[in-house]
Amino acid sequence: VREVKHLLGIDRMERADIVRVLDRASEFGRFIGASGKDKERVQSKALAGKRVLNLFFETSTRTRFSFERAARNLSAEVTNFTASGSSVEKGESIKDTVRTLGALDPDVIAVRSAYSGVPERIAEWVGASVVNAGDGKHQHPTQALLDIYTLRQRFDSLEGLNLWIVGDVLHSRVARSLIQAATKMGAKVTLSGPPSLIPRGVEEAFDCQVEDTLERLGEADVVYVLRLQKERITDSLLPSLSGYTAEYQINLERLTPSQLVMHPGPINRGVEIAADVADSPQSLIEEQVRAGIAVRMAVLCEAAGV
Ligand code: CP
Repeated sequence: VREVKHLLGIDRMERADIVRVLDRASEFGRFIGASGKDKERVQSKALAGKRVLNLFFETSTRTRFSFERAARNLSAEVTNFTASGSSVEKGESIKDTVRTLGALDPDVIAVRSAYSGVPERIAEWVGASVVNAGDGKHQHPTQALLDIYTLRQRFDSLEGLNLWIVGDVLHSRVARSLIQAATKMGAKVTLSGPPSLIPRGVEEAFDCQVEDTLERLGEADVVYVLRLQKERITDSLLPSLSGYTAEYQINLERLTPSQLVMHPGPINRGVEIAADVADSPQSLIEEQVRAGIAVRMAVLCEAAGV
């Protein structure tokens, strides 16, 4: 019987689990150069003979390509599914799509969906290990793991680190996973953004604090900027984009030179983050993308039970 080990959310991981995955990712990371080019074409045979299915019902650039690269680096057999161009467009249900692709007998399935809970449902339908590659507003655990990995490259310990997460928290699965991962690692998390984009009761639910303005941003060691999810934001939530940028955009005037800036991507230049910040040496955005390969290699190994 195949061992099944799902990664559905950071809420189901203990600090020791996070450390174990990231230590393993560090081993893989040593083989991935600063340019992002692998030093060896294939570093590992760890998943030779295993099948990885990337099941993406929602758009993605970073997550999809790094899962694919990670699986290939481990010598897995990879199948990529994207809803666009598939029979989903003819009305095939997620369950029937999963049943159809399940016939390929994957060992690990990475699932991206616009709807919260879809990876968990798929885990009930299939015998494979399921990795959540981002579901609705719910969780994006591999993003949080790569974010913590990136921070561990810069700081000896995350204990007491002041992490500010700024922007559209309301719609952000990235924020939910990152708050949980960062606090488990000992960081102090502060959320800031327009009150309409901060979920009610978040302080109690997630062990963090909320600041309505950026007046105290200078206290942050790291500023994590969230994408303003314009496609989900109505006028009643945010009456004016220029009002948002005036009060919450992260630009060089708002930062001290020692503060580091992160963003999960894709970025809206000139909206939540100024172009000069995104391209500055303070920005860890490219490091985050590179970290995604090593972290997803470690996650795939865990999921495949190797
Ligand atoms: N950060 C992230 O999930 O980006 P993609 O949507 O491009 O995968």
